[in-house]
Amino acid sequence: MFQRFLRFTMKCQNPAKKFSTATQNNFKVCVIGSAGGIGQPLCLLLKQELMITYLNLYDIAKVNPGVNVDLSHVNTTPIVQAFTGCNVVVITAGMPRKPGMSREDLFGANAAVVYGFACAVACFSPCALVAIVTNPLNSMVPVFSEVLMRCGCYDPCKIFGVTTLDLVRASTFAGQISCADPSYLDIPVIGGHAGKTIVPLLSQSRPPLPSMTQEDIQKLTVRIQEAGTEVVKAKAGEGSATLSMAFAAARFVRSLLKGLSGEPVIECAYVRSCATDAAYFANPLVLGRYGIERNLGYGKLNAYEGKQLQEAVPILVKNIEDGVKYVIQKADIKPPTKCEPPKPPSKTKG
Ligand SMILES: NC(=O)c1ccc[n+]([C@@H]2O[C@H](COP(=O)([O-])OP(=O)(O)OC[C@H]3O[C@@H](n4cnc5c(N)ncnc54)[C@H](O)[C@@H]3O)[C@@H](O)[C@H]2O)c1
Repeated sequence: MFQRFLRFTMKCQNPAKKFSTATQNNFKVCVIGSAGGIGQPLCLLLKQELMITYLNLYDIAKVNPGVNVDLSHVNTTPIVQAFTGCNVVVITAGMPRKPGMSREDLFGANAAVVYGFACAVACFSPCALVAIVTNPLNSMVPVFSEVLMRCGCYDPCKIFGVTTLDLVRASTFAGQISCADPSYLDIPVIGGHAGKTIVPLLSQSRPPLPSMTQEDIQKLTVRIQEAGTEVVKAKAGEGSATLSMAFAAARFVRSLLKGLSGEPVIECAYVRSCATDAAYFANPLVLGRYGIERNLGYGKLNAYEGKQLQEAVPILVKNIEDGVKYVIQKADIKPPTKCEPPKPPSKTKG
């Protein structure tokens, strides 16, 4: 069932596909951090998305107006425009890792950025689905959520930490080992998005992976957990994953839009959860018209995966606490005066 859903999703995710089967295709999407390493290729991918009518690019970088003009010359439908009443807001703004840094080291720099955008979303797009990419994701989703709670417009079904890159990596690396087409491998990755909190469920791969020794399973698990560091090291101080992340974020945004348009899609993401002792947790979700339609949990784990999960949860709990404490210490949030649903743009594609 899961696999059928996923194959269908993948079929419709092909950017070269000319005709969308979606029932609604006039969505307004905003990318915050649009001039960055992830932001620019992500905007290019979304500029080719048939379900989007308006694409908003926001960044403090001086080059952003240029990125805007550059992108507006691409002969596809989405029109580049302003940050109000969005259906989906993607937050990629913030500092990336340098060699030797952990994602947690980014907390000081990026919590203020995410906090600021949570206030902005509460005022200008309070009903949007929000996809957060900025690290450390395990803490940034709680920061964003706490701000919206205090602004009176929190909906746990609408706030997502984007962990799609972990799934993309899991299927890529498993595909290399098993000589399978990675685009047809579906491997859930649960927990969070940093080191040991990333828990790939290789036993739940669809189709199943060929039998592997425990040593191979451990190697593959660690490679998935440390893949971000592999990129940071290879880029030698010039940033972290950008192209693969843009690919993953575009896939996630497309899934959100398909859900919004009435075609349920299954994706993993880091969301408010009661699956474990951690108040936020990533596992497969059904995405629908109002965001999360159903949380599917994580199913049956084998002994190794169970142990990984046991190690992940206390780390997640601590990361979440850090995010919540940060917001509690800032007591200056003023609730927005009103919370209006986003108005769909008047232009409708045929
Ligand atoms: N979730 C994941 O799987 C994943 C993967 C890779 C990277 N990341 C994270 O994504 C974030 C962005 O990475 P990147 O490589 O694109 O970084 P980058 O430095 O290339 O781009 C960040 C952009 O954000 C902009 N920005 C910063 N503060 C801003 C503000 N207050 N308002 C508007 N724009 C602002 C900058 O001007 C810049 O253009 C980092 O935190 C990185 O760690 C997440």
